[in-house]
Amino acid sequence: MALIAPSVLSADFSRLAEEIKAVERAGADLIHYDVMDGQFVPNISFGYKIMSDLKKTTDLFLDVHLMVFEPSYLYKDFVSRGAGRISFHLEAVSDVIENINIIKSLGAEAGITINPNTEVDRIIDYLPLLNNVLLMSVFPGFGGQKFIESTYDKIKFLNEYRNKNNLNYIITVDGGVNANNAHKLANLGCDVLVAGSSIFGKEDYNRAIKELRL
Ligand code: DX5
Ligand code: ZN
Repeated sequence: MALIAPSVLSADFSRLAEEIKAVERAGADLIHYDVMDGQFVPNISFGYKIMSDLKKTTDLFLDVHLMVFEPSYLYKDFVSRGAGRISFHLEAVSDVIENINIIKSLGAEAGITINPNTEVDRIIDYLPLLNNVLLMSVFPGFGGQKFIESTYDKIKFLNEYRNKNNLNYIITVDGGVNANNAHKLANLGCDVLVAGSSIFGKEDYNRAIKELRL
């Protein structure tokens, strides 16, 4: 069964602490925190101050997704304020291994994320070093978009590859996850399902999370 990670981006920002508490009570397993620089993606979200304040209100693991060009200047600030895992975009850095090493040296788990139009072959060499592969199933920048079906093949490949090679990275899928595709995603080997609008866009968070687990 996959873990459910509500994406803060879709929460009501005027009531953030309440929103996080509500999904925690509703059974969320961890929190997905999207950081956008307005350059790598055409949107700006929030930085480490808000994450640090939210950390005081929840015991849930904080999983940070950085949509930022050359984000290594941010790692220390996020990890020291409670980020448990940091994933950076392959498309946004010039030295992949250096980025992985910095995150790990700070004591956090390291992940790479790839856009829907980036081939999974491009991260094969890094897989033994990774704790997480974050597959974008929409083009990053906004919540509420439609799931891109070609993601299924990437999940299948990554799941088979880790079994064959005895690796232990987790597979996270992000974008357009809902009650109609969650079951298939979990069955194909996804460990974490990120869900923004299909949780925060619903009236009843309890029911929304339950539906994603069915
Ligand atoms: C998109 C973000 C996602 C987003 C998902 O750039 O990375 O985490 O919040 O939202 P939904 O689940 O609505 O597609
Ligand atoms: Zn995300």
